[in-house]
Amino acid sequence: MSIDLQAVLKNKVINGWNLFWLVSIPMSIVMVIAMLGVDLSTGPGVSTMIGFSVRWAVPFIFLVVATSSLQILFPGQLPMWLLRNRKYIGFCFAVAMAWQGAFIFMMSNFFRDYYYEDIYLLRDELEGSVGYIFLAAMMVTSFHFGRKHLSPKQWKLLHKSGIYFLWAYPFSVYWWNLSYYDNPQPIDYVFYWSGFLAFALRIAAWGKKRQQAARRNTQDSSTPLAFKGLGGAIIVFGLLVAATGLQWQEPVTAFLTAPKWSANLVLWLPYWPFEPYLSIFIIGLGTLLVTKARA
Ligand code: HEM
Repeated sequence: MSIDLQAVLKNKVINGWNLFWLVSIPMSIVMVIAMLGVDLSTGPGVSTMIGFSVRWAVPFIFLVVATSSLQILFPGQLPMWLLRNRKYIGFCFAVAMAWQGAFIFMMSNFFRDYYYEDIYLLRDELEGSVGYIFLAAMMVTSFHFGRKHLSPKQWKLLHKSGIYFLWAYPFSVYWWNLSYYDNPQPIDYVFYWSGFLAFALRIAAWGKKRQQAARRNTQDSSTPLAFKGLGGAIIVFGLLVAATGLQWQEPVTAFLTAPKWSANLVLWLPYWPFEPYLSIFIIGLGTLLVTKARA
């Protein structure tokens, strides 16, 4: 008996608001059950819930980042279903983040000493706050009453920057877990590589679109062999950089923060000096070369 995938994916239960409720209600029940097992009258207890809740949010933001690229690279019914429901998948991310927000509120109001002594770091606070500001703005402008205040260009800019920023936060958290600390957990690997894959798919989709545009606009759209070879080598190098953070993080950070101005930026500029994203920059450069048209 064959299953009609198209009919399944069009089922009302797994589309639109129904999908949102289907995911966010069980997720919230799990959150309440986890809360019952943790001592919320202590700072560490609340901190555990901050970490627990955000782990539910991360897969959704990675999925949102990858969705449009999946449809470009592997057009089909499943990517189309994801694309159709991207907004609601984003809302599921927002629900998990709202849980994290509630625990952060508890921490910063009731366990101030623990928060400021054991956790607080100005830059982390700035990164997190900017993330929440983006999230709130994206939520409001996902509905007609908020959207009508923005032009289509402004809306696109807001949502694109927000998605990148909210991807960048967890991606960097898990990169640092693998590239700085000695005792990463299996989940750190899973989240780091999922975040990497989500962005790598975007780069690949961008490369594919460049090739298609070149085919449309130029007579000879082939890439010179030298560019192909060099670009391919740079991509392989980028993959190596992505997989070996622990081996190079210390000297590279020391080098990038050697000038005083750069060391100062570390204190407040989100993500500076961008070590987790070096591999992404390198792979992007390689893709630029691999897809460069001759004419
Ligand atoms: C002002 C806002 C924020 C504050 C104060 C904050 C605070 C925290 C704290 C205290 C932890 C450590 C929990 C623990 O393991 O004990 C944490 C973990 C984390 N936060 Fe936030 N956060 C903020 C915003 C965000 C945002 C916007 C994101 C983006 C998605 C995010 C993603 C993460 C991730 C991925 C972890 C690691 C979870 C894990 O252990 O796997 N946070 N945050």
